[in-house]
Amino acid sequence: MENKIIIRTENLHKDFILNKESKVSAIGGIDLNIEQGEFVAIVGRSGSGKSTLMQLLSGIILPTQGDVYYRNTNLNKLSNKERAAFRNKEIGFVFQSFFVEKNLTAYENVEIPLLIQDIDKKERERRIELALSQVGLSKRKDHKPREMSGGEIQRVCIARAMVTDPEVIFADEPTGQLDFATSEIIMELFTKMKNENKTVIMVTHNETDARKYADRLIRIQDGKITSEEKLKDEQA
Ligand SMILES: Nc1ncnc2c1ncn2[C@@H]1O[C@H](COP(=O)(O)OP(=O)(O)OP(=O)(O)O)[C@@H](O)[C@H]1O
Ligand SMILES: [Mg+2]
Repeated sequence: MENKIIIRTENLHKDFILNKESKVSAIGGIDLNIEQGEFVAIVGRSGSGKSTLMQLLSGIILPTQGDVYYRNTNLNKLSNKERAAFRNKEIGFVFQSFFVEKNLTAYENVEIPLLIQDIDKKERERRIELALSQVGLSKRKDHKPREMSGGEIQRVCIARAMVTDPEVIFADEPTGQLDFATSEIIMELFTKMKNENKTVIMVTHNETDARKYADRLIRIQDGKITSEEKLKDEQA
């Protein structure tokens, strides 16, 4: 089966302007095609532009130059409101600095994207319970962030990203705080999504995980792709 391109970038650039004299070129010309159902791992040194690329691909920030297409939609051409709606509907994002609402419980944090979608209480409850159980957090649903460990908070963020059943999951170092066994559970979850023809884009410093689970390994350095490696056979 021929898979369709779900995300495509053309000549993508992102500069951060610090002041009149200095700017950082975080992304310096990236052309990338990502297929629906693909599991892509992005690796690279600290400061190489991985998080910036993820935020561009998901429409959280806009490029200085170039375009990101999601299917046939140019994210640059959407209004802020349309882009926010697009993100809520199509995308789950696990941030590197896993931010959570400090005064809300695990359950309530995972509920946020569903409230935006106006899903009724019963269905919300079903989805939240499922998402929390998939990341092994059923017992912590009434805990607030200060009553949880770093790895548990990270898993709340993963549950929140998955609870809407998005087409694309972006995960920026999703297992940085997790032990080996818990990381495996998360990688298996992403693999399950991929097998349902969802797209998974993950930044990781763990190349062993990347090689074990991903279909493609993309290396970036100084805001550019330096190599792309296919890890799995199309026919697999
Ligand atoms: N908001 C910002 N303003 C100015 N510079 C920024 C901003 N965000 C990122 N940068 C710079 O852009 C470059 C790329 O940052 P980015 O966060 O994408 O790196 P990264 O590959 O994710 O690194 P890490 O592995 O440490 O998370 C870095 O040099 C960083 O200092
Ligand atoms: Mg980063």
